[in-house]
Formats: sequence, C-alpha cells, structure tokens
Amino acid sequence: MITNVTEFEAIAKEKLSKMVYDFYASGAEDQWTLKENRNAFSRILFRPRILVDVSKIDLTTTVLGFKISMPIMIAPTSMQKMAHPEGELATARAASAAGTIMFLSQTLSSGSTSSVDEVASTGPGVRFFQLYMLKDRNVVAQLVKRAERAGFKAIALTVDRPLLGRREADIKNRFTLPPHLTLKNFEGLDLGKLNKTDDSGLASYVPEQLDPEIDRSLNWKDVKWLQTITSLPILLKGVLTAEDARLAVEAGAAGIIVSNHGARQLDYVPATISALEEVVKAAQGRVPVFLDGGVRRGTDVFKAMALGASGVFIGRPVVFSLAADGEAGVRKVLEMLHDEFELTMALSGCRSLKEITRDHVVTDWDRP
Ligand code: FNR
Repeated sequence: MITNVTEFEAIAKEKLSKMVYDFYASGAEDQWTLKENRNAFSRILFRPRILVDVSKIDLTTTVLGFKISMPIMIAPTSMQKMAHPEGELATARAASAAGTIMFLSQTLSSGSTSSVDEVASTGPGVRFFQLYMLKDRNVVAQLVKRAERAGFKAIALTVDRPLLGRREADIKNRFTLPPHLTLKNFEGLDLGKLNKTDDSGLASYVPEQLDPEIDRSLNWKDVKWLQTITSLPILLKGVLTAEDARLAVEAGAAGIIVSNHGARQLDYVPATISALEEVVKAAQGRVPVFLDGGVRRGTDVFKAMALGASGVFIGRPVVFSLAADGEAGVRKVLEMLHDEFELTMALSGCRSLKEITRDHVVTDWDRP
C-alpha cells in the first residue's frame, strides 16, 4: 500500500526501462542540487500555533485569476508517454479532477495524435503552456497561437535552459525518444528549416535534435517580443536571484517561477526553497512568485507558502505516479499532497492560506 508520494518512485523504477527511469530521475552532473532540493526542506522547521479552531480549513486559492482547489499544481515535464500510454492526457484529466492547473511541456510526446488540442479535448480545466525559445521565431509564434486557440491560459517561458544541462545517466544510456513517440506540438506547423533533417514528418524529432534549435541567444528583449505576439500572461520559469526577479517584473512578466529545472541544468545552484525568499522580497508583491523543485510532502508546500510562494508545482511525482498507475496514480499524488497540506495547516493552526505566515517556520538562515 502506498502511503506517500515518494513511494511511487520505486514502483516506477520497476516498471520503466532503465533509460526512461534515469531520464526522469536524474539531475545534472554531481546531482548536488538534486539532493539539496530535498535536503533544504528538512532544514526548515515549524513554529505551530495551538488552540486555533481548525474545524474548517480552506485550501483554495487564485492563480492569475483562476480559482483552484489548492496551491499545488503540475509542472511541465516532457515526454510523459514514455511513462504511460496516455501520458499528458491522463495528467490533464487528473489535474482537472483535482481542480488544479496543469502545465503542458512544449515537448509533449505522443504515440498517436495528442497535442495542445488533444489535451484541451480531455475536458474542462485550466492549462498553461510551457515554451522554450527556438531560433525560428516563426515556429515559436505558431506554437503560441496554437496554445491560445486550444484555450491555454498562460505561457511559461523557461529561461534556465539556453543549453541542455549535462545529465550523465542520459549520456551513458544514449537516451533517445522511443521511435513510436513524437513531439506532436510541432506537427502541422510551418517549420521552415527545422524540418531539414527529417524525411518522416517529425517522427524522429528527439530532444537532442530539437536542442540545436533552442536559442542560446535568449535574453530580456525576447521576453518583450513574446508579449507582442500574445495577450496571454507570461511567467518566467527558472528565476533564482533577486536581481533577475527585479528584471522579470520590469520586463512585464505576470509571474515568476523559482525553479532550477528539477536540478537538471546548472548543478550547485541552491535548492529552490533556499532561493525563494530573496526572490519574493525582490518581487515586492508586484507579481506572484511560485516554486518548484523537490516538493514531495504537504509540509513542503506549507514551508513554501510560509516563505512567500503563491503556489507550488510538482514534476517527478507526476511522471512516477503516471508510470505506476496512469491517471489514477496522478490523482492519488494530488490527493495525498492535498490531504497532507491540509493536515499541516490544521496542526499549525492555519485555516486559510493567508493565515500561513513567515512566523510559522524557522529556517537554517534564521538561526545564528
Ligand atoms: C522537467 N522539467 C521541464 N521544465 C520545462 O520547463 N520544460 C520541460 O519540458 C521539462 N521537462 C522535464 C522533464 C523531466 C523528466 C523532469 C524531471 C523535469 C522541469 C520541471 O518543469 C520542474 O521544474 C521540475 O521537475 C520540478 O522539480 P521536481 O518536482 O521534479 O523535483
């Protein structure tokens, strides 16, 4: 019997090939940041308040104007069909059932026909689209339009991956996308020179092939450009410093996601939970600040909220639970985190998200 989110990983490991499991699980290089994303949470302790009537707890919140059941959402993770045949579609249904937001990765994969449109057709639900900046801006513009037309409500521009981080397990395993999976969001677009290497549509578009198309020149001007091609709010995903948080606000970002890409990019950056507070302070409440990275417990969610996050996203727990049990697995993960977070609130004396304050936690940097 599974009693917590982390336990899904062992089941996924048994079910998946080594290549796929390693792709999901790995971090970059020494994987210091990967461990630190978890360890840093364990250095934050609670200062619970007692004798508060907690017979009613309200976890609901609003993200970019959308009311959701809890501040726990789904991060974009690529190629979910390697985990389960229904991939992103199962995730979309689970997010919708839980009343929360799902981010769809630009590098959505599919065995058959899925794309932003097919994810949209799984039923109602608030969905955001994650974007990597490609050299060919025409393709970027088409991807954004397609997401808009499919009813996606926001764009997250991932800013921490101008180049792919070194994930040594993937190098050793010679990671490639299984041949029956394709990056469907690109299908049917005018790809210009992106199509050049490919005789069979996009069937062989593995991430390594997409990678040379990702624009290393990505800079603040591109954030401005993105605003000229869409009216959707733009979140910047991958901010870790106060300096960049200020620039993000000045550049017109509608929100910031404190993220280190699940420790898959630059190793030896701090855990996201350690970087969160400086970003929150720099944002000065002008835009919401979210966090992802290592969130595995309701207590983690509470800690992030206490340090000023407006919500959190989960990555690997989704792919592992998807591998273990498809849509039911992802639903279970969301339910477990919901229930653990509710319990944490109750045991800390908080009845609503706004009652969670900085005084409810003490961090290692508070202590002398
Ligand atoms: C990711 N992440 C990611 N981010 C992004 O912006 N676009 C993407 O396509 C992907 N793909 C992806 C695949 C896999 C297998 C992982 C594990 C991660 C990063 C993701 O959105 C998020 O930042 C982290 O996964 C959060 O950390 P945890 O919850 O996995 O610890």
